[in-house]
Amino acid sequence: MRIGLIGLGRIGGFHADTLAALDHVTELVVTDPVAAAVDAVTARIGKATAMASPEALLDAGIDGVVIAAATSAHAELLLAAVERGIPTFCEKPIAGSADEAVAVRDRLRGSDVPVQIGYPRRFDPAFVAARDAVRAGELGRVHTVRSTTLDPAPPPAAYLAVSGGMFRDCAVHDFDAVRWVTGQEAVEVYAVGAVDPDAPAELYADNRDWSSASTLITLADGTIGVVSNTRTNARGYDVRLEVHGVLDSVAAGLDEGLPLRSTQPGITWPAGPPHTFFVDRLTEAFRRELAAFCRVAAGEIPSPCTIEDAMGTAWIAEAATLSALEGRPVRIDEVAR
Ligand SMILES: NC(=O)c1ccc[n+]([C@@H]2O[C@H](COP(=O)([O-])OP(=O)(O)OC[C@H]3O[C@@H](n4cnc5c(N)ncnc54)[C@H](O)[C@@H]3O)[C@@H](O)[C@H]2O)c1
Repeated sequence: MRIGLIGLGRIGGFHADTLAALDHVTELVVTDPVAAAVDAVTARIGKATAMASPEALLDAGIDGVVIAAATSAHAELLLAAVERGIPTFCEKPIAGSADEAVAVRDRLRGSDVPVQIGYPRRFDPAFVAARDAVRAGELGRVHTVRSTTLDPAPPPAAYLAVSGGMFRDCAVHDFDAVRWVTGQEAVEVYAVGAVDPDAPAELYADNRDWSSASTLITLADGTIGVVSNTRTNARGYDVRLEVHGVLDSVAAGLDEGLPLRSTQPGITWPAGPPHTFFVDRLTEAFRRELAAFCRVAAGEIPSPCTIEDAMGTAWIAEAATLSALEGRPVRIDEVAR
């Protein structure tokens, strides 16, 4: 298959290597406004060729496209790709704002061109096993789900400025995991955020954003979701999920690379080294996610995360953002449309 890749930054550069290593992909066509990013990818990946613009790439006769450009570019690129009939993978979130995401959803409603939104935890073997345990009834009635994403260090200010903020950019992975693992939709959220007093204003304060946040989610069946996030977890990249039921409890992310130091006397676990970034913690998840997209593009399987599905996650992020800004619980039906 000839696959296009738009955006070659932190995740796009990584996706280029992952895609190039997949059996499905015979040729990779790439573009990014930053020439050095394009040169780096074409220099190290023999099957990658460069295009001058996203439009040129979309008109180059590709079998599918992966959008890994900055969040603010998603909506326009998604519409341009799907309206050309190209199966499309788009990194989370769907768009830079809820209004844009709704506009994309409404314009593409009824289209039979498959779209997959990128939530890699749905492909992480440990998250999949946790979901399977819930679905098989091994935990009995689930009462609490705890999901954590702690980044080691903040992304660049330019990234944060167009990211949509902590809840839409980072916590959104946890919101999706809580929905996906339980199979339950959110009814109400209550979120709080804090700003690192030592951080430059351009990172958080100027964007009305937060460096740490927590969100309580009430799901439709009464299950409680507890989500925890920070941009500054010096010990490493911490992605974890715990699911507690009346019969049993399971956790994903409890491996030797868990960035936590036990203070329990005599306990040396986890032995480390700690995970440092999403690239090492979620390598296999990204590989499986993009392999699934190739099968979607080939017409072999339906999209594992449609726009409609991803909107369920987006509304939690919208409600959490409003909740943290206004200091009150927010029902999903107050923001969803
Ligand atoms: N699924 C995940 O775990 C995960 C992890 C990181 C990032 N992301 C998402 O991936 C996207 C990119 O994140 P990143 O960390 O790589 O950001 P980044 O800032 O490192 O890279 C973005 C790249 O997009 C390019 N770009 C910007 N506008 C463009 C346009 N109109 N057309 C083509 N290229 C354009 C920039 O030049 C840059 O190279 C974001 O939407 C982010 O939310 C997802």
